[in-house]
Amino acid sequence: MMDRSSRAETLITDGVCVYFEGVKAVDDISLSVQRARIHGLIGPNGAGKSTLFNAVSGFVPLTAGRVTLGDTDISGWSPTRISQHGVVRTFQDTRIFKALTVLENVELGAMDAGLHGNAGRAASMEVLELLRIGHLADEIAGNVALGDGRRVGIARAVATQPDFLMMDEPAAGLDEKETSELADSIREIRDERQCGVLLVEHDMSVIFKICEEIHVMDSGRTIAVGDPDEIRTNAAVIEAYFGSGHS
Ligand SMILES: Nc1ncnc2c1ncn2[C@@H]1O[C@H](COP(=O)(O)OP(=O)(O)OP(=O)(O)O)[C@@H](O)[C@H]1O
Ligand SMILES: [Mg+2]
Repeated sequence: MMDRSSRAETLITDGVCVYFEGVKAVDDISLSVQRARIHGLIGPNGAGKSTLFNAVSGFVPLTAGRVTLGDTDISGWSPTRISQHGVVRTFQDTRIFKALTVLENVELGAMDAGLHGNAGRAASMEVLELLRIGHLADEIAGNVALGDGRRVGIARAVATQPDFLMMDEPAAGLDEKETSELADSIREIRDERQCGVLLVEHDMSVIFKICEEIHVMDSGRTIAVGDPDEIRTNAAVIEAYFGSGHS
């Protein structure tokens, strides 16, 4: 494990651009996530949210700009190195090991935090309890329901003891009740672990319920930044979601 005795307080993108051939997927995005805060990243389909996510977590190269974690410039680092330094993401398709038990999946995360054997198991059980799926510890991960599987993926990320936890559409495919409960769980993770959260989510009920700061993108660019009350009533945001492009 890396020495992370001093926890970074900020995760910042500074003028980040990601251009694909013919598409400015992310175009000059500067955003700042504080530790222990929940920061939403929203925008219509194709706005560039996932691409920004991939850029921050090292899965696509930056065309321009930089990403800093505390005082450290992490631009261009590999995904593994970035996660070892405390910036950990989940994937929309969950990516759990279906043949392992729920607990074993989370123990893999704990190992990344240097916790093996009994210590790893105890830490993993704590995370499962935090995510309210402790009763599923010994189930085969491939057999649990979609909503629980989503929680297993999040639990594994939390078990790595991130300073910043990035989630791309954690509520996708969940019903209303599961979605609401997941929002509560994300807030509980933040409260207990004091990690910063960067949350991409289409379900506005989740965003408005738990985010303290919201960054809105459209066509690769920032169109608004503010707290939920500011974003709810922002003219540019309303236009992006309900404006002329939509029939
Ligand atoms: N690997 C790639 N090569 C070329 N273009 C890409 C690539 N990945 C994304 N894009 C384009 O970049 C733009 C932004 O896509 P992105 O997936 O980041 O949007 P998004 O905001 O996550 O959308 P959604 O809400 O649908 O998930 C889109 O025009 C998309 O087609
Ligand atoms: Mg996306």
